[in-house]
Parts: sequence; structure tokens; C-alpha cells
Amino acid sequence: MLNSFLKEKFSYLKEARILLKGNIRDFWICPTFKCNMKCKTCKLWKKEPGSLDISIIKKILKDKLTKNTNFVLEGGEFLLYSDYKEVLKLLKGRKYTLFTAGYLDNRLIDATLKYKIPEIIISLDGNPKTNKKIKGIDIFPAIEHSINELKGKTKLSVNYTMSKWNNKEDLLFVKRFCEKKGILLNINIYNNAKYLGATLKMQKLYNLKEIDLESNYTKFYNLWLEHKLKLPCLSIRVRTGVYPNGDLYLCKKKDIILGNLYEKSLKEIWNSKKTKRLQKELLWCNDCWMYCHRKYDLDVINKLSSYLPKGIIKKIMKKEV
Ligand SMILES: C[S@@+](CC[C@H](N)C(=O)[O-])C[C@H]1O[C@@H](n2cnc3c(N)ncnc32)[C@H](O)[C@@H]1O
Ligand code: SF4
Ligand code: SF4
Repeated sequence: MLNSFLKEKFSYLKEARILLKGNIRDFWICPTFKCNMKCKTCKLWKKEPGSLDISIIKKILKDKLTKNTNFVLEGGEFLLYSDYKEVLKLLKGRKYTLFTAGYLDNRLIDATLKYKIPEIIISLDGNPKTNKKIKGIDIFPAIEHSINELKGKTKLSVNYTMSKWNNKEDLLFVKRFCEKKGILLNINIYNNAKYLGATLKMQKLYNLKEIDLESNYTKFYNLWLEHKLKLPCLSIRVRTGVYPNGDLYLCKKKDIILGNLYEKSLKEIWNSKKTKRLQKELLWCNDCWMYCHRKYDLDVINKLSSYLPKGIIKKIMKKEV
């Protein structure tokens, strides 16, 4: 018991150190926007796909700033990047996750087994019919094939994006599917993020408590949507990523670019006055509820709440309930 207590305290201290030092905790590698799906939630498939030169990825991985970074391989569809095998080779021994729609099942299975990919997240937005309606193609059999083959061989989870195109029944289907397969389920919410070309107004969410799927991320969403919750944006101090044209972004919601990796090194861009200024200026931005950013902010507040009085936490969250 003492051991787990100390382990927990140590992990808090480690997280606090990363945040205070402004190290890059998590880095998204999006080397191409290429994608075979035509999702309703995301219009990346309409964009110029682009292809990041592998030398830029090598530079990122060699930079001291990313020595202890967790990488997320995304896109578009990462497995459609011409040099995906080379990247997987380069990542040997590093902490990373591959995020995929799951339709390239054989490629995914082969790559996971060959390169020992440590973690995979597969998207599934409803029952097979709804998932097809959202993605444009019936990829449920490919998703199930990948999960059956990879279960127990890597850390596997499913990502469900709540949107106006799916409903509670779809979520219950995915919940039961994950339970049957014995894998984790993450719940994400549709955001009108610029980089995805998603422009639809965000909608109020139904109650997830009654189906036992509530998390802080889903619980506080409606309050945030009604402008009754203001959360500091800390994620932009520790998270970033690269687009196919070499742009290093501030966050996935806005069009703000910190610099271009074809022109400057990661260290130069990340430690620049411009980056530090933006990170400070946008501390109270609160313009999005993107899982990849606000989940981190909520986790930090949650950890703080075991040390600070409730009143202070309420003030930090600027909650009006
Ligand atoms: C952009 S995709 C990239 C990886 C891969 N192509 C996939 O679909 O899993 C990553 C995740 O974002 C989700 N997503 C798509 N459109 C979104 C939106 N407008 N807001 C929030 N998440 C979205 C997808 O469902 C997917 O789970
Ligand atoms: S969500 Fe993923 S699969 Fe769908 S269009 Fe966007 S990148 Fe492609
Ligand atoms: S709160 Fe603002 S700065 Fe932070 S991730 Fe969202 S849009 Fe970007």
C-alpha cells in the first residue's frame, strides 16, 4: 500500500515537473492527411494530403526535447504515409500510440506484430450501420478482424466520437462490443476543429451517467458549452504536433502555427519568445473542448484537487453552477 502511495505521489511530481519546465510531454505526428474514408465529422479527406519528409521526423526524434515524449501517430491515416514502416522502425523502444480508423486491417495487424507497436486506438462511432453512415464505408468487419488478431498483443482501445450522427443506442452497442472483446473505451466529443475542417455547431450532450459511461470530460461538456465553465488551457504548454507541411501547431482547434520544421529546429521553435508568449496569452482561451487538449487540463485539475481546497479548485475552473 505504501508502495502504491509513493508511486502515485512520484507520478504527480513527475507530471508537475514536466508542466513547470514546459517540456514536450506529448507529440502528434501527422505525416499525411491522406485518407480513404469520407467521414461526416472530419473533412481531412478533402484536403491536399501532403507528405512530411522523413528527415523531419528523424530530427524530431533526435531532439533532446522529445527524449521522454509520448508520440501519437495520426493523420489522416498514418498507415497510408509512404514511409510508415521507416517511422515504426525509428520509434523502436519509444513510447507511442497509433490512432487509426481501422480499415487497413491486414496492414495494421502485420505492422503491429512486426514492429511491436505498444498501443493502438481504433475509432468506432456506432453500430456497423451508423459507423458506415458516418465513415462512408462499412469497415466494421475490418475493425473486428484487427481487434480479434491483436488482442493481448498490444494495448488496444476503441475511440467513440459522439456527434449528431450517432445516439445513445450506438454508444451502448460500442460499450457492449468493447466489453465482449475485453478492451477499453474512450469517449470523445465532436468539436468544430479547424484542422479537421469541421464547421458544424456543437450540440448539447445527453446524460452518460445513467449508462455508466460518465467521465470528467463528458460530465463538464454541457457546462462548458453553456459558457458556465472556464478551464485554464495548460495542454498547449506540453502538447504539440506536426502537420504534413512541417508546421508545428499550437493546438488542433486554432489555425495558429508556432513555426515550420523545414525552416527551424524543434528546439528553436518550442523555446522561442513567440511560443512562450502564445502559451501565456491563451491560458484562459477556453475556445474548445477537444479531447486531446482539455482531457489533459481536466486531469491536471483533478490531480490538484487532492492537494488544494475545493474553493480554490472551483475558482480555477471558474464554474458557475
Ligand atoms: C482525425 S482521426 C485520425 C486518425 C484516424 N484516421 C481515425 O479516424 O481514427 C482521430 C479521431 O478523431 C475523431 N474525429 C473526427 N472528426 C472529429 C471532430 N470533428 N471532432 C472530434 N473528433 C473527431 C475520429 O473519429 C477519430 O477517432
Ligand atoms: S476521422 Fe480519420 S478516417 Fe475519418 S476522414 Fe478523418 S482522418 Fe479519415
Ligand atoms: S482552449 Fe484554446 S488554446 Fe487551448 S486547445 Fe482549445 S482552442 Fe487551443
